[in-house]
Amino acid sequence: MPLATAARPLRVGFVGLGHNGLAHAQAHQRLGRSVIAALCDRRPDRLQQAATLLGVDRLYQDDAICAAPDLDAISIHTGDDQHLEPFCRALAAGKHVLVEKPLANSEAAVRAMVAAAQQADPELKIQVGYILRFNPVFAALRAQVAAGALGRIYYMEADYIHNLLYQQQQTDPVTGRNWYLEEELPMVGGGSHPLDLLRWLSGQEVVRVRALANHVAFPQMRHDDCVAALFGFADGSIAKVAALYGPRCAMAPYYNLRLYGTRGTVERDRLAVAAGDDDVHPEFQPVTADRVIGHPYDAEIEDWLDAIAEHRPPRTSLLDGARSTLATLVAVRSAVEDRELAVPSLSAEA
Ligand SMILES: NC(=O)c1ccc[n+]([C@@H]2O[C@H](COP(=O)([O-])OP(=O)(O)OC[C@H]3O[C@@H](n4cnc5c(N)ncnc54)[C@H](O)[C@@H]3O)[C@@H](O)[C@H]2O)c1
Repeated sequence: MPLATAARPLRVGFVGLGHNGLAHAQAHQRLGRSVIAALCDRRPDRLQQAATLLGVDRLYQDDAICAAPDLDAISIHTGDDQHLEPFCRALAAGKHVLVEKPLANSEAAVRAMVAAAQQADPELKIQVGYILRFNPVFAALRAQVAAGALGRIYYMEADYIHNLLYQQQQTDPVTGRNWYLEEELPMVGGGSHPLDLLRWLSGQEVVRVRALANHVAFPQMRHDDCVAALFGFADGSIAKVAALYGPRCAMAPYYNLRLYGTRGTVERDRLAVAAGDDDVHPEFQPVTADRVIGHPYDAEIEDWLDAIAEHRPPRTSLLDGARSTLATLVAVRSAVEDRELAVPSLSAEA
């Protein structure tokens, strides 16, 4: 069982101290609600840099950190293909877990992680890092959708168009490789962000997918760098998600989000709602919410810490995050096999 009590702050260990892991650890320090008890990275340079920056001297180079008896929680920020082992080890040792998205980059690994969570202590709180859910604009839009402002949603779009060409210049000195170039699946690592957002906003589950892909803009990546997928949802609604890693431009604002409903429309951070049946062309109004620059890591971490303290599920539970990841993995397979595929329901098969 986890060791934290009301009188003793949560003791957290961090696995993976690249840009993302360091940002999480710094957010924990800023929030002051937990103790950064130990750090782990297989790269000695990154481990030392993080140790100095964070003032932590208990250091690991392998995932033995996940079983350290005095830790209550493990925060996992390794590359997409490296989440499985520390995740399973941490759960087996009775730790709460925050694991970055995508949950994994193979369908088998997603299933193994769902199985590990089902065998673990049900009191353990697992947050999957689908951070768009913590953007106040998207949260405000979700409240409007839940209140029925759009009527019935029948079509959605959102994209992950992210220039990652700079990754060509980077190599991991321990492995002599760069996982972004060799392992990353843009529809999964990137595209699962907007797909998760659309699932969360609409409250609907994906049941099938058809995708196309090409490999033109970023040939240094092993996998296709441009993927466009049409997802079919259980209620008959349709969503288009594109993932591009080699565009020569900045990221599209608000992930090109668009929601079309029988009463209204969302276009990025704006909303148009019909006053009545005769109002066929309502004006767009900006949604009322704070505009966040960058990643809202603090809100995501606070939700995880609150979920642990309050014994309630975090905003993106393991099964919820697993569904977003799995749907995009099936999309990648759809492009490879050049056919439409069913997206399995994880709870039914688990
Ligand atoms: N939620 C978000 O908005 C967001 C943003 C950026 C990255 N991410 C995700 O965070 C994760 C990390 O991304 P990054 O850009 O920081 O990657 P990165 O490659 O820069 O850092 C990963 C670190 O993990 C270490 N590592 C890898 N495998 C390890 C292992 N088995 N044991 C110990 N250390 C290991 C590597 O040495 C490296 O320092 C990825 O899954 C990525 O998709 C999420």
